[in-house]
Amino acid sequence: MAQACKTAILISGSGSNLQAFIDAVDKGAINLELCVVFSNNPDAYGLQRAKKAGIPTACVQHGDFPDRESFDAAVIAELDRFNPELVILAGFMRILTREFVAHFRGKILNIHPALLPSYPGLNTHQRVLDAGDEWHGSTVHFVTEELDAGPRILQGRIAVVPEESAKELEARVQAVEHQIYCVAADWVGSGKVQLRDGKSCSEGRVMLNPIVNKY
Ligand code: GAR
Repeated sequence: MAQACKTAILISGSGSNLQAFIDAVDKGAINLELCVVFSNNPDAYGLQRAKKAGIPTACVQHGDFPDRESFDAAVIAELDRFNPELVILAGFMRILTREFVAHFRGKILNIHPALLPSYPGLNTHQRVLDAGDEWHGSTVHFVTEELDAGPRILQGRIAVVPEESAKELEARVQAVEHQIYCVAADWVGSGKVQLRDGKSCSEGRVMLNPIVNKY
């Protein structure tokens, strides 16, 4: 088997997506080596998940820095100690600077709880319910300078159930995330999917649309 792709996972909170990665690596389902779990929040539960799994952790608090640029420079320095080939944003609730994106260009993935380009930003589940949408889901995409707008790779789509609450919808979307994020990250980690000239490419061919898995 090819060398596992050295992967940093960045979190701010619970880290249920991180847990999905830990479990998938344990099972041998994906060829990633989780080299560090980083958080901007020392109380993030995901840090405990990482420690339990024996993965190195690092934490830099954004409140200790005067601006985004100096915080991101510290995060870059921290991550570079581990030489990651892939940087996974898994509920990392910080907006990244251009410098950060340029430093890891083509290597940063994000998961966003909506069918992008619909519903960038926050409170996606409630906004989908308020709009009366039929479909919802989550999107794995490359990170570029523009928030929640980088080239998409894989989406998981579910039907909205009439009368369900935002909490219930969120739980169902998260269950989908735990499946699609590992798959998409493994595609990028293996080189099957790449960012080229600002577009997602699969085996060298431009992906006009993301792959959509229906659940
Ligand atoms: C995930 O649902 C992810 O889509 C969302 O944060 C959650 C983190 O959950 N990300 C964003 O909203 C980014 N814009 P987790 O900590 O349990 O993995």
